[in-house]
Amino acid sequence: MSEQRPDGRSGGGSGGGSGGGSGRTVRRDYLRTKSIEQSIRDTEEPEHALTRSLSALDLTVFGVGVIIGTGIFVLTGAVAKEQAGPATALAFVVAGVVCALAALCYAEFASTLPVAGSAYTFSYASLGELPAWIIGWDLVLEFALGTAVVAVGWAGYIRALLANADWALPRALSGPDVAHGFSFDVLAAALVMLLTVILVLGMKLSARVTSVVVAVKVAVVLLVIIAGAFFVDPGNYHPFIPEAKGTLSGSGLSAPLIQLMSGYRPTTFGVEGIFTAAAVVFFAFIGFDVVATAAEETRNPQRDVPRGILGSLFICTALYVAVSIVVTGMEKYTRLSVDAPLADAFKATGHPFYAGLISFGAAIGLTTVCMILLLGQSRVFFAMSRDGLLPRVFSRVHPRFGTPYRSTILLGTVIAVVAGFTSISQLAALVNIGTLFAFVVVALGVLILRRTRPDLPRAFRAPWVPVLPIVSVAASVWLMLNLPAETWLRFGVWLAIGLFVYFLYGRRHSRVTGAGTRTE
Ligand code: ALA
Repeated sequence: MSEQRPDGRSGGGSGGGSGGGSGRTVRRDYLRTKSIEQSIRDTEEPEHALTRSLSALDLTVFGVGVIIGTGIFVLTGAVAKEQAGPATALAFVVAGVVCALAALCYAEFASTLPVAGSAYTFSYASLGELPAWIIGWDLVLEFALGTAVVAVGWAGYIRALLANADWALPRALSGPDVAHGFSFDVLAAALVMLLTVILVLGMKLSARVTSVVVAVKVAVVLLVIIAGAFFVDPGNYHPFIPEAKGTLSGSGLSAPLIQLMSGYRPTTFGVEGIFTAAAVVFFAFIGFDVVATAAEETRNPQRDVPRGILGSLFICTALYVAVSIVVTGMEKYTRLSVDAPLADAFKATGHPFYAGLISFGAAIGLTTVCMILLLGQSRVFFAMSRDGLLPRVFSRVHPRFGTPYRSTILLGTVIAVVAGFTSISQLAALVNIGTLFAFVVVALGVLILRRTRPDLPRAFRAPWVPVLPIVSVAASVWLMLNLPAETWLRFGVWLAIGLFVYFLYGRRHSRVTGAGTRTE
C-alpha cells in the first residue's frame, strides 16, 4: 500500500509519530487532518465554490424554519400523554440546554472554519479523516432520514386537511402509515422532489420561500400560545409532574440502552420521565446545526453564523416551552391527541376554527423543515465529495445557479423514495441518535482544536472551555443512553456500512493524500 502514504498536506496535530513502519503509516493515514487553511482554500476553487449570499437574519430565519416542525406540532402530544404530563415543558428545557451547549461549540467551530459541511468539516480539521468520514456519513443519515420523517408527517397533515373536505387518496398512494401491503406515500415523495427543484434553482430563492413560510409558521405557533392561553384550565396542571410509574414495555431491545447496561429501570412520568421525554423531544430542536452547514454561503460567516445558530435556538426554545405549557393547560394530558395535539386541543375546547387554521399552518410550516434538512444534507455530501471521499462529480456546482445540483438531485431522489415507503416512528429515534453523536464529536473537536491550533482567529469563542465542551459531551451521551437499544443497533449497522464504503472508496481517493487528486 505504498502509494497511500500520507504526505505533507495534512496539518494540525493529529498524526504523531515519525518514521515509517507500514502499520504506523496506516494508522496516521486514518487520522490525517485537513488543515484549516486547506479547507478555506478549497472553497475558492471556482468550479467547486458556492455563492455567498446569506446574512445573519437569513440564517436565523433558516434556523427557525428548520427547527420548528414535527417535534412541536406532533411529538408534544405523545410525550405529554405517555412520559411527562404537564412537565413536558421541562423536557423541552432539558433538551434545549443540551442543544445550547452544543450550539456554543458549533458556533465556535463555524466561526473558525466557515466552510460547507458542518460537523464533518470540523472533525476533518481536528480529529482526522476517519472520524470525519464517520461523522459525515452520520450526518447524511440524520438529514436524509430527518427529511423523510418530516415529509411523511407533512403528508399526514395534508391527508387530514383533504379528509375535512371529504376527499381521500387511494390507500395504495397513502404510504405505509395508512395502508397495509404495498403503499407508496405519493404526497411525501412529491414534496421532496419539489423542494429538490427549489434548492437546485438557488439559495437566494430558497431563502425567500423560507421567509414567507417561516412567518406563517411562527404566526401559527404564536396563535396557539396567545389564543390558547385564554382557554387554559389551571386544574389541568395538577399534578405538574405526574407520579412515576414503572413501564411494562421497557424490556428487550425497545428499552433505553441505559436500562440494559445498568439494570436501571425506566419509568414513565416522575422526574425520570422528564429525561426520557427530553430524549424524544430533542427531535424538535434538530436543525440549528444545519445553519452551520450554510457557513460557506454566508457573507460574513465569522459574525453571522454564531448569531444565526444561537438566535434561532433561543427563539425556538422559548416558543416550545410556551406552547407545551399552554397545550397541557388546555386539555388534561391524559386526553391529548397523539397525531395533532395542538389543533386537537382547540377542538377539545370547542374552537374548531382555530384547529383548522393550525393544521393548515403546520402543513405549510413543515415544508421548510424538509427543505432545509435537504439542503444541509446535500451540503455535507458536497463537502465530502469535494474532499474526494465521495466521487468528485457530486461537488461540481451548476454553471448558472451556483448550487451543487448533482448531489442535490441524487439525494433528493433517494429521499423521495425512502419517504414514500417509510413509516415515521422508529426512524425519528435514529435521527436523534445520529444528531447527538455529531454533537459529541463537535464538542471534542473544539477541545482538540483549541490545543492543536490555538493561533487560529476565532470570531466567536465558546465560554468556559474546557468545562463547557466536556459537559456538552456528557449531556449528549446521557440523552443517547435514554434512547432504545434497537436504535443503537440500527445506528451501528449504518456506521458499519459507512466504514465499508470508506475503505472501498474514500480512503483511496481522499484528496488530502494527494493520491486521489483528479480534475473533473
Ligand atoms: N426540528 C425539526 C422538527 O421538529 C426536525 O421537525
